[in-house]
Amino acid sequence: MTEIKGSTRILGIIGWPIEHSLSPLMQNRAIAACGQDLVFVPFPVHPNALAAAVTGLRSLGVAGFNVTIPHKNAIIPLLDEVTPEARMMGAVNTVQCDGSRLVGHNTDGPGLLRALTEEFGFNPAGRRVLLIGAGGAARAALVSLARAGAVVTVANRTEEKGTELVNACRQGVAGAELAVSSLDILGAPELSRFDLIVNSTSVGMWGTAFTELDAGCLQPTTMVYDMVYAPLETPLLKTARERGAPAANGLSMLAAQGELAFAIWTGAPPPAGLMRETLLTAVTESD
Ligand code: ATR
Repeated sequence: MTEIKGSTRILGIIGWPIEHSLSPLMQNRAIAACGQDLVFVPFPVHPNALAAAVTGLRSLGVAGFNVTIPHKNAIIPLLDEVTPEARMMGAVNTVQCDGSRLVGHNTDGPGLLRALTEEFGFNPAGRRVLLIGAGGAARAALVSLARAGAVVTVANRTEEKGTELVNACRQGVAGAELAVSSLDILGAPELSRFDLIVNSTSVGMWGTAFTELDAGCLQPTTMVYDMVYAPLETPLLKTARERGAPAANGLSMLAAQGELAFAIWTGAPPPAGLMRETLLTAVTESD
């Protein structure tokens, strides 16, 4: 742990609730490993207090902060600048404090791409991806995948939300090749067309499963990435492994978005693998 001195700068994360966040743990490990004069703290910020909290963070001269549920979208109008990618995603998860200027970034989508490279050596260009879900996590994933040239089908329980998401992404990403489907695709022969399946929904937490999934339709060559990481093996990942398909949980994405945020704040990445190992230990202990 950093010794807090007069010169120590503050990093943090705002969210509501925030107690469950693993970011303070992994960011403080990285700060210590890099010998940075920084400390990373959790800030519980009620939705009604967001504007006041942002004014306070600006006044207090914090070095930067992460933004999590439910503030990722609501914070956008409170910032001085937002990267085009984060604006397209409608979500900011990382704020860089440049003097008193607050600049919003999104490292969730790029974090997913980095995790897919690490886990599977996956290069999205021209590859067929089935993205399950149409919420905030799906939107960041879709923008990053589409910008990287993947051909993405969005499958969501509420199909209209899938259509809305795809239409919004088509407007933002020129030439994006996108389609919409129902969750029934998980039990259809078309499932074999995909190189990669990404789950961005909460299905899998607490051991819940996609009732539509037919293991027989899942090819051993289809990679399966589940953004859920608690439990470490969701029913979707278990099915994939039983079929012999490459499968990975969301710990690598959580670590990668944190590494990218750390690099934005400090100008250099943390030691490779450190955040992920920290997360794995924490989640294994609480599993
Ligand atoms: P997040 O910001 O984490 O993405 P969200 O915006 O609330 O959270 O989105 C949750 C996603 O999980 C949605 O795609 C939701 O489907 P609906 O649009 O139909 O609500 C999906 N989801 C949640 N519970 C689900 C379930 N039991 N079965 C299928 N999809 C589910």
